[in-house]
Amino acid sequence: MTDSNSGSYTGPDRVFSGVQPSGSLHLGNYLGALKKFARLQNEKDCVFCIVDLHAITVPQDPAKLADQTREIAAAYFAAGVDPSKAIVYAQSSVRAHTELAWYFNCVARTGWLNRMTQFKDKAGKNAERASVGLYTYPVLQAADILAFKATHVPVGEDQKQHLELSRDIAGKFNHDFNAPNFFPLPEPLIKGPGAKVMSLRDGTKKMSKSDPSDASRINLTDTPDQIAKKVRKAKTDTGAVPATASEMEGRPDIANLIGIYSALSERSEADIMNEHGGGQFGPFKNALADVAVETLRPVTESMNRYLAAPDEIDAILNKAGDAAAEIADPIVADVRRIIGFRGA
Ligand code: TYM
Repeated sequence: MTDSNSGSYTGPDRVFSGVQPSGSLHLGNYLGALKKFARLQNEKDCVFCIVDLHAITVPQDPAKLADQTREIAAAYFAAGVDPSKAIVYAQSSVRAHTELAWYFNCVARTGWLNRMTQFKDKAGKNAERASVGLYTYPVLQAADILAFKATHVPVGEDQKQHLELSRDIAGKFNHDFNAPNFFPLPEPLIKGPGAKVMSLRDGTKKMSKSDPSDASRINLTDTPDQIAKKVRKAKTDTGAVPATASEMEGRPDIANLIGIYSALSERSEADIMNEHGGGQFGPFKNALADVAVETLRPVTESMNRYLAAPDEIDAILNKAGDAAAEIADPIVADVRRIIGFRGA
């Protein structure tokens, strides 16, 4: 049985999430997603995907795409996701995604997609020139999740609206085809420190791989020196380090740094403010830089070790792709029957 939000669905709990292989990963991806995945694999059945089909909604270099996919696999493993506990595979190797996405394109309403803020942000003023794939991107995301009848989806806060759409699609499919509780209504797992890591240059904008300023983010491939420099240059104000939550109010840059400190060190924000509150930002940033360097160093080193053995990564991904298809194919076969196709 799943939690209350999942209606009366009685299937087993399953966790699903995905990361795009487009550009290098940053601290937001690590704290908002990868770190949570590693914890969840000990609690539930987990399926983790490298969403290369999502990546091609914007142009990708065909000569680099496979390596970008391996890089995300390496990041999953380096963050502690264990391929003997969780399925880690590439989306394009499992056909169920694209097939179910088409069926869901016929379930989702254009009005729903027109409300998606991430499309508006990504397409910008050039929406007319954006690919149709970028527009229907959240429908493919729903297909990812529901091809596995996943009940729980760990993501950062920026994915909240896409998860709501997945729930709407699941509910409408169940209703329109008179298949009560066939799909669970997947529940987002967003809470916790690191769910919304903001830019180091502007605490009101999320840390993002598409930000033109590299100083705005800490990449998982940054050297200790680069990490320390970025932390020391992070935007602050002329006040002191806050000692209480109320002193942090209205100071998004500071709140972000304290949030990052808390998520990396696994200490509460109150604890950090107890230690540094009232002090200058210089010593606070030095302490944060040390925590960031020491926490990320083993992750980066492990990632590089995996990347030195691309054949091993491929072997893991191939085997996991088969395991993923074994779960998803029968679910999509049921969908075909429910829709009423001949021979299904
Ligand atoms: P993507 O590749 O942009 O990001 C991967 C994960 O990192 C989280 N994240 C953040 N968390 C906290 N602070 C930030 N600044 C930050 N930036 C990114 C994202 O929320 C995400 O969890 N559409 C998804 C990939 C996807 C997916 C799925 C996720 C495709 N299918 C099915 C869940 C289930 C995306 O583009 O994530």
